[in-house]
Amino acid sequence: MLKRRIVFVAGKGGTGKTTIAAAICLLAARNGKEVLGVEVDAKGDLSTALGSHGANFKATVVQPGVSVLALHAEEAFQEYLHLYFKVPRLARMTPLSRVFDFIATAVPGPRDMLVTGKIAFEERRRDDNKRPVWDLIVVDCTSSGHVLAQLRAARAMLELIRGGLIRGQIEWIDGVITDSRRTTAVLTSLPEEMPVVETIELRRDIARQGTVHVSMCVLNRMPPEPLPAAARRVLAELTTADAPVRARLPGAARIGADLELGARLHRSAQAQARQLRASIGVPVVQVPVTPARTGLATTRAVAVALRDATEARR
Ligand SMILES: Nc1ncnc2c1ncn2[C@@H]1O[C@H](COP(=O)(O)OP(=O)(O)OP(=O)(O)O)[C@@H](O)[C@H]1O
Ligand SMILES: [Mg+2]
Repeated sequence: MLKRRIVFVAGKGGTGKTTIAAAICLLAARNGKEVLGVEVDAKGDLSTALGSHGANFKATVVQPGVSVLALHAEEAFQEYLHLYFKVPRLARMTPLSRVFDFIATAVPGPRDMLVTGKIAFEERRRDDNKRPVWDLIVVDCTSSGHVLAQLRAARAMLELIRGGLIRGQIEWIDGVITDSRRTTAVLTSLPEEMPVVETIELRRDIARQGTVHVSMCVLNRMPPEPLPAAARRVLAELTTADAPVRARLPGAARIGADLELGARLHRSAQAQARQLRASIGVPVVQVPVTPARTGLATTRAVAVALRDATEARR
């Protein structure tokens, strides 16, 4: 994954897209890469998960080797016009701007394409020594429904535009997204029935689109391994022990019941993991639920777990 140039992190709401995207940024930076994290929906979560706040359209350094850029579609639109058509930013005040506004708002495709267009542009950026400005770009995508439209936006535009300057640029954007040597997607899921079903569907829909290559699925927030069954039995038996024994070990019965519940959650998560592995068609790595509380602490713990899990697979 870290050998690619662009990684899209996509999945259902709340499955850990932002946390996993931030963790990939940290791991890549620790490997000496210059990383750009991209927030597509501009909630500001990615920069928070990286211990900062408030990213904007200009890339801002949030950790050593990691910068974050927020892509509001409107700003992406201005930048796109400026970069590709050399339209000065002020020209948007003229009647011409209404034409551009129409293009950008009336049809969903162009607006979504601005997002992939900006990402492709950042991938192509070189410094004065002709070296890439970013070794890796990690995209914290919007929810699963919208991401399909975004990934396919350039392709959809190609069906509308038959020739000319714009077509060449859109072909180039689509080429960056679909090039599996450069670009890949990581899907995030949770060990519960609906997220697993929806992740399998998302993977199938991406394959049907024929857009981005999917390299793995992260099954996030796995419950911890329970104590061995024998130890749980001892604690469970305390529930029925004589009153004097229970009096000497206050709370033990409660611990026993909690451990039983933990074991049940673990079994059900394992069953969901098997279901996901059987159907998704890409490697699945598990990341445990971490006790960390702040954004950056959670990200760091998840980064370590993700590194261990991917190394264990090799
Ligand atoms: N492995 C983990 N252990 C503990 N907490 C986690 C873990 N992964 C994510 N979280 C927490 O779960 C919450 C949801 O995660 P996150 O924001 O990354 O999901 P998301 O898919 O980006 O959500 P949204 O769809 O709202 O953007 C966050 O509070 C995050 O800190
Ligand atoms: Mg998020």
